[in-house]
Amino acid sequence: MNPEEAKKKISDLSEKLHYHNQLYYMEDRIEISDFEFDQMMNDLIELEKEFPDLMLPDSPTQRVGGTISKEFPTVRHSSPMLSLGNTYSEQDLIDFDGRVSRGLGTDNYQYFCELKFDGVALSLTYRDGILVRGVTRGDGVQGDDITPNVKTIRSIPLRIHSDYTGEFEVRGEAFIPKEEFVNLNKRKVQAGEDTYANARNTASGTLKMQDSAEVARRKLDCYLYSLTLTDRSIETHEDSIHWMEKAGFNVSDTYKKCSDIKEVLAYIHEWEEKRQQLPVETDGIVIKVNSLDQQNELGFTAKSPRWAIAYKYKSESAETALLDVTYQVGRTGAITPVAELDPVFLAGTTVKRASLHNANEIVRLDLHHKDVVFVEKGGEIIPKVTGVKLEARHANADPVIYPAECPECGTALVRTEGEAVHYCPNTMGCAPQIKGRVEHFISRKALDIDSLGEQTISLLFDKGLLHSPADLFDLTYEQIMELEGFKDLSTKNVLKGIEAGKNIPFSRVLFGLGIRFVGATVAEKLATHFGNIDNLAKAGFEELLSVPEIGEKIAASVNDYFSQDLNIKEIDRLKKAGLQLELEESDQPSSDVLNGKTFVISGVFTEFSRDELKQTIKSHGGKVVSSISSKLDYLVAGENMGPAKLEKATKLDINIISEQEFKELLAEAADV
Ligand code: IVH
Repeated sequence: MNPEEAKKKISDLSEKLHYHNQLYYMEDRIEISDFEFDQMMNDLIELEKEFPDLMLPDSPTQRVGGTISKEFPTVRHSSPMLSLGNTYSEQDLIDFDGRVSRGLGTDNYQYFCELKFDGVALSLTYRDGILVRGVTRGDGVQGDDITPNVKTIRSIPLRIHSDYTGEFEVRGEAFIPKEEFVNLNKRKVQAGEDTYANARNTASGTLKMQDSAEVARRKLDCYLYSLTLTDRSIETHEDSIHWMEKAGFNVSDTYKKCSDIKEVLAYIHEWEEKRQQLPVETDGIVIKVNSLDQQNELGFTAKSPRWAIAYKYKSESAETALLDVTYQVGRTGAITPVAELDPVFLAGTTVKRASLHNANEIVRLDLHHKDVVFVEKGGEIIPKVTGVKLEARHANADPVIYPAECPECGTALVRTEGEAVHYCPNTMGCAPQIKGRVEHFISRKALDIDSLGEQTISLLFDKGLLHSPADLFDLTYEQIMELEGFKDLSTKNVLKGIEAGKNIPFSRVLFGLGIRFVGATVAEKLATHFGNIDNLAKAGFEELLSVPEIGEKIAASVNDYFSQDLNIKEIDRLKKAGLQLELEESDQPSSDVLNGKTFVISGVFTEFSRDELKQTIKSHGGKVVSSISSKLDYLVAGENMGPAKLEKATKLDINIISEQEFKELLAEAADV
């Protein structure tokens, strides 16, 4: 394709992707399949790689991330991002209204009410209609420039629908939609990792992640609620809201203009229950004087505007009887105590169970059998027990004692120093752990054997036919036929599903092994880096640490897994069964010209993505490490590389090469 054609194709694809994005995220409609969408996105990514100069500043490819930011530059806000005065009382609102009225010297003003979204405040700057910067609130005066991460939030327009020229800023709240938060935690459970307790903190942590591709996967969203733009047509906050809506910003349609404080109170009551149905956590409402002139007249105190106030809903709480405390055993052996409750209606749902987290929590609550407890649904999705109604305690009630033995298999529980969670160490003999591991092994992101389910696994386990994933591959037609409810067709289906598992790529098999802290993404990184299971099993702690994104916790867990004989035997059996325990042929090293050479990659490249560059180095026998030391052979420097790295490399006299020089190095090495 010549550049002229490429330019046309890039613009065409970008246009279409923007259109379908907008349709999906703003209007909740689709016109094409996910597959078609992904294909267009991949075509565009490829074209942009081939013709980097032609990439548009608002290219939809930025939505999928890919930028790794080692640090986020600090940026000063154009005006401080202030907080709001808070109240829980309606009388305070009436007093606020009195202050507004006296301050303005008239009763001729209106309010604009919005919900108070419980997320992370963001400031977005647009220049000539294009998003150029996204910054966190930080301390209110300055925040972190997290633009690559912000660009992955699909509902934030990369280019606005307006021909407005010049610069303006919008502010709003980024959040993880409730449903996505639940999905994210499900993925954490599958990976054997601890779940996130609260959506707000998770959104905040996500926005500061170094890998924007991971941010993209978390599917954040953002509601905008403030605009700084000098345009005579904008006289009220309501005008700003409408301007933002027209320009393509995601504004929650829950707002309302109110002509007096009575209407404000009615708005508060209207949303008290209804807000539970919204996709985002809300903790109150924000009341703003509508006229911008009147806002200016009222001005600010040192900390917050005099023209706005937040009313916070009391965190919803209910009291109910504790019927029992049960203890769940996860596939990793982790024990979770659960309060079984007399069902109670709370914040839109009936609550029957609440997590008690761990033994410390039971001690903190001084929980006794048959206590009446308070349950709350604050920022968290899973309700929690927040306290005990002491006056309702039975005179001779016994305290809840954390068991010393596993409730499932009777093995003495262990608790590692410094950890709050108890574990059952009987990995090979404890039923829920065994079944849980097989369930994980066949789950969608691992071997994806959907002809097998929880129930069948349980039946096979009860018959003594299934102790580990490898046993699946020894199952015979007769054995399955004998199970309750199985006929010829369903049996063949199960066997077909198991057989198909042998074609699943290495990274997914690795994920399926259920090594603690090795989620799907980590498994992919490890598979790409080590190429096969034997290399991974041999890798020392340091070598594991040198893999990008692998920290000490994961490295120790991988080492621990492969130090156990049982696991090595299991892997041997999986190998013999014919599972993919190495990368496919095409991913194998293509030469050894970079053998023994170490590289650090820093900055952004034009021809290669960072992952491709890493892949290329590895496929020619080289090694990519993350930190610069005197032993390093090359620093491949792209655009915008961190100054600290450059300084260190220069000091240590490391060979600093450009992307072009890297290509030459490769060509020369291949020629020798
Ligand atoms: S307006 C001068 N509107 O609440 C402050 N803030 O305590 C103007 N928030 O930092 C903020 N929903 O992060 C405004 N509809 C809304 C909001 C909202 C949530 C957050 C925001 C702000 C904090 C103020």
